[in-house]
Amino acid sequence: MKPREIIPDVHYVGAPDFDRRLFDALIPLPDGTSYNSYLVRGRDKTALIDAVEPMKLDVLKAYLAEVPKVDFLISHHTEQDHSGGIPWVLARFPGVQVLSSEPAKSMLVDHLGLDAAAIRSVADGERLDLGGKTLRFIYTPWVHWPETMSTYLEEDKVLFSCDWFGSHIAQTGLFVDSAASIMAEAKRYYAEIMMPFRLIVQKNLDKIKDLEIRLIAPSHGPIHRDPQSIIRAYRDWADDMPHNTVVLPWVSMHGSTALMVERLVGALTARGIKVQPFNMATADIGQLAMTLVDAATLVVAAPTVHVGPHPMVFNAVILANALRPKVRFASIMGSYGWAGKMVDIVKAAMPNLRVELLPPVICKGLPRPADLEAVDKLADAIAAKHKELGLL
Ligand code: FEO
Repeated sequence: MKPREIIPDVHYVGAPDFDRRLFDALIPLPDGTSYNSYLVRGRDKTALIDAVEPMKLDVLKAYLAEVPKVDFLISHHTEQDHSGGIPWVLARFPGVQVLSSEPAKSMLVDHLGLDAAAIRSVADGERLDLGGKTLRFIYTPWVHWPETMSTYLEEDKVLFSCDWFGSHIAQTGLFVDSAASIMAEAKRYYAEIMMPFRLIVQKNLDKIKDLEIRLIAPSHGPIHRDPQSIIRAYRDWADDMPHNTVVLPWVSMHGSTALMVERLVGALTARGIKVQPFNMATADIGQLAMTLVDAATLVVAAPTVHVGPHPMVFNAVILANALRPKVRFASIMGSYGWAGKMVDIVKAAMPNLRVELLPPVICKGLPRPADLEAVDKLADAIAAKHKELGLL
């Protein structure tokens, strides 16, 4: 199998994975994914960028079958979907030198059992001349692990970005068909692994702002021919200002909480606020994560199970706390049968969210007119807060 040309002397040697449906045993992959690897050939030396997921190593092996020599293996990120094939590359091309960031060196030893002597750490900003192809290494921590770096190919203005700017899509084409088509997938990916490091994403964006970039070649999903579109989207997602949106994970056992959710959705809509409810009995948590990227307010709505919130909604609270979105306000709605500590339990489960808690609405059994009026008041409170932020 011949490496696929992207531009002269830069080839794709990665693997789509059409069948994978879960990443990290957690993240839904409705459209599969890909593990991208790239071969950059200079007059004198050849570099391989990343080494695919072990399950797809056969694809990399086939692409490299007729490649006589690889001098450098650039390891952007130690997570195994990019580094898993490195031991095979070391065996296939004796003498190949692994280049990584300084923090990655010990991680490659720990995670893959590599011999430290095979790894040379490169400095942030260091250049490597392959002979008419100059690679510049740029430390880009926390997109997605602390050791992650990117590589800029100076002559061709290609940014090999690893996880950031990537998307979980399996396709046979190498390039993004249109910027609009990629944004939902890229946002889903940002939400799931980069949102917790939003402030560092801003710093990484600042770091590349003066680079002239013609192509962004990430380690998952297609290559961007319109780099500024995805960079602008990242700026918006990482920005401190949320959108005029309420995210509403909920579940209902016997219909009481559902009545409150229906009332709140109507009341918020009437006040000009976009609301995205997620019935957690069936929701795609990737969609929930995407909505958390922009939302100004989080309202969780659940019936009481024993004394606490229904576990499916509680999972959404745990996820939001882990992803640390930029939400500014939160509230809680729900009903209970005979007793409950739902509000205390939910509040205690989201210490990472720097939110102002708006008055919860909790009722006993079926909501009565006064309870539904309290839901309207909650909508008023949310609208007032969104106005204060200039969102309404
Ligand atoms: Fe694609 Fe963080 O690994």
